[in-house]
Amino acid sequence: MAESIRDLLFGGVSGDRDLVEAIEPRRSFDDVVLPATTLRALNHALALVRKHDLIFDKWGLAERHSSGLGLAFHFAGPPGTGKTICAEALAYALDKKLLVVRYAELESRWVGQTSKHVAAVFRSAARQDAVLFFDEADAIAGRRFTSIGAAYEREANAIVNVLLHELESFPGVVIFATNLAANIDPAFERRIRTHILFEMPDVEERERIWRVQLHARKTPLGPDVDFRALAEAYPRSGGDIKNAVLKAAQIATVEPGPDSEKRIHQRHFIQGMAEVMAAENVMSQSLFDDPTAGPIGGVMERLAEGQEELRGELGVLVERLDSLEQRVRSLASEHSSRGVELERQQVQLAETLVSGRRHRDRVLIYLAAASALIASAALALTLIG
Ligand SMILES: Nc1ncnc2c1ncn2[C@@H]1O[C@H](COP(=O)(O)OP(=O)(O)O)[C@@H](O)[C@H]1O
Ligand SMILES: [Mg+2]
Repeated sequence: MAESIRDLLFGGVSGDRDLVEAIEPRRSFDDVVLPATTLRALNHALALVRKHDLIFDKWGLAERHSSGLGLAFHFAGPPGTGKTICAEALAYALDKKLLVVRYAELESRWVGQTSKHVAAVFRSAARQDAVLFFDEADAIAGRRFTSIGAAYEREANAIVNVLLHELESFPGVVIFATNLAANIDPAFERRIRTHILFEMPDVEERERIWRVQLHARKTPLGPDVDFRALAEAYPRSGGDIKNAVLKAAQIATVEPGPDSEKRIHQRHFIQGMAEVMAAENVMSQSLFDDPTAGPIGGVMERLAEGQEELRGELGVLVERLDSLEQRVRSLASEHSSRGVELERQQVQLAETLVSGRRHRDRVLIYLAAASALIASAALALTLIG
């Protein structure tokens, strides 16, 4: 088949984050810690799908009817509460592949063509009998625009209409994950069988999540590790806990001494979580508008943090540019055999490259400006003091 789903969506070009990804599910409901109500709702969804397969496949009703055959679920909840992992676990329980569509990416890259690609995604999922998962689908699940002035709004409405249409004739399972439960388009509401709410974990659940993130036998833990204390100290999501565990392990491995004696201690978990929370603060805070921070000292601290953040961003950009550059080079070498289409892609890539460079240059200027600002503020402080 010439059009792998990847080629369909990228036209052979891949970015830093895939738009669609076929996953052979590995994680099951054993890997997830959920409140009883969420678990019950998921079990109910599973039972619906199984009965659905019986009615439509074994009892042959799919051959007699061509619409209204699919099952759509909506997973709603804050980031990091296990929506993605549960979509995978559901596919695992059904012994099907999971086709993950990152709707936000799809939309942002393909203005004018998204509808076509949405239809292609559905066809591919039907062909592979995969569970179709629209991750981060807040934009589609939301209401359609009522005044259709801007091209963007027309485009968004067109996509939603195509989606609703595809949903009507798609015979399989579709899951939408959103961060906002509210404000769902009523037309979606009608086609969605079950809404499943993902909530922030309570202290018991958090304790179990800390444990489930480690290997029961292989992960070496210090005798001082106390998951209950961590669960009580940090009312954070499962996603944050996962990231804290990974950071803790990294911090533990760089301590001096032979590897065989290294253990993850409580202090590593604490530091790991502190880093996760600090990273989030940097992301969510504007440098200047926090009224609770002290005068210039607070601003300086946040400027320094902001600089770190910019540096990180710059690193990512540089990596992305490198891979784009490589891609351009390899496209160029294939060029003679693939003709005009390639030329178009090259131009597109070159444009991305240039705008990426511009962005990088801007970041560099910000960095320089921030450094100068910090230096002069420090000077001012010394003079005052
Ligand atoms: N309830 C949970 N139980 C166990 N692990 C969890 C839970 N929620 C999140 N995690 C961990 O955090 C990671 C990110 O969660 P994810 O499913 O992507 O959240 P969401 O899709 O809701 O943003 C998961 O891969 C898993 O390791
Ligand atoms: Mg997710």
